[in-house]
Amino acid sequence: MERFRPSSLVATRRALLIGAMTLPFLGQSLRGSTLTKTADEADMLFGCAVRADQLFADRDFRALVTSECGEITPELELKWAFVEPDAGKYNFSSADVLAAFASENGKALHGHTLLWHDSIPPWAAAQLAQQSDWTIISRFIAETVTRYRDKISTWDVVNEPILIGQRDDGLRASPFLEAFGSGYVAHALKEVRKLAPKAKLFINEFGLLYDLPQDRLKREALLQLLETLKKWGVPLSGIGIQGHLELQHQSNFNQQVFADFLNRLGGLGLEIRISELDVKENRTELPADIRDQRAGEAVKALLDVAVENKAVGTITSWGLSDRYSWLPGAGETAGYNRGLPFNTDLKIKPIYAAIQQALAKRARQKP
Ligand code: XIL
Repeated sequence: MERFRPSSLVATRRALLIGAMTLPFLGQSLRGSTLTKTADEADMLFGCAVRADQLFADRDFRALVTSECGEITPELELKWAFVEPDAGKYNFSSADVLAAFASENGKALHGHTLLWHDSIPPWAAAQLAQQSDWTIISRFIAETVTRYRDKISTWDVVNEPILIGQRDDGLRASPFLEAFGSGYVAHALKEVRKLAPKAKLFINEFGLLYDLPQDRLKREALLQLLETLKKWGVPLSGIGIQGHLELQHQSNFNQQVFADFLNRLGGLGLEIRISELDVKENRTELPADIRDQRAGEAVKALLDVAVENKAVGTITSWGLSDRYSWLPGAGETAGYNRGLPFNTDLKIKPIYAAIQQALAKRARQKP
């Protein structure tokens, strides 16, 4: 029996499908080439965030990650709170599992992340609040970076250092900044450079995508930070632009504005990673195929611009399948769970097609 649908929904559905014509609803036939293969052809890298427990409990999912990704990012396993839950007692067992998976399968392993305000172990937060003791940070950085020196060649050294509305320079008043002043970003980058002379060092940031006042301010604050670091000769290789798309803001995605931002970053000699790609929905009452189509359109809009810029070398999604999406756990998006390239049955969705097409476009542009 046909499911009852209010007529306004049918109309919306038709309008949305027509609007989405530029992104054909591609079926399983598209699986002829994997994302990592197309990325290879484009001299790019495609990857995703994974957790060790998911990879090892779920054979089908592991096979999917193995075939689709050229790089993996530990979703949790390298964060400070995870690695050093008690002072001086390191737990690298889960990160080691991911490192072994990566090397056995020829995948790059991305180091995410060393300094993040949201993953400071409680004991360290208490200590930082009392005294400006960089040695606890030094020790964690040294243990972690040295352990994976041969396995990790790209690091998110500082994650999310910008927050508009706290300080004139746009830097986040994080426990790191409170304890060590604004120089902590440069200090951390120099320290990691000494331990890993060949690694590419990144700053990774969110809230940079839309033509909205908040994002505009954030782009400017970030550019200011990056210009200063470059002027000081601080070892910074690139910038990760977190691709957390939000459909509620999609009408404020302006391709020209985003292209200009990428150009300015590239102009500073920085490599660009489109990191943490996923889509937060806003209309969960719509039929699933329409929801998927809208999410695919948002990814297409972003990546079409991204692949035009040669400084963009890597695209990673924050998870691969809705089966393990972090989105439902992310507070305000509870229940919104269709934001990744594969659905919960590990079948491709329009997001997948959008990534494939963007990578293929870049491959065709090769000289
Ligand atoms: C998230 C993980 O996905 C969650 O499982 C965890 O509870 C919190 O961290 N920006 C980042 C990522 O840089 O590290 C975050 O990952 C998502 C937002």
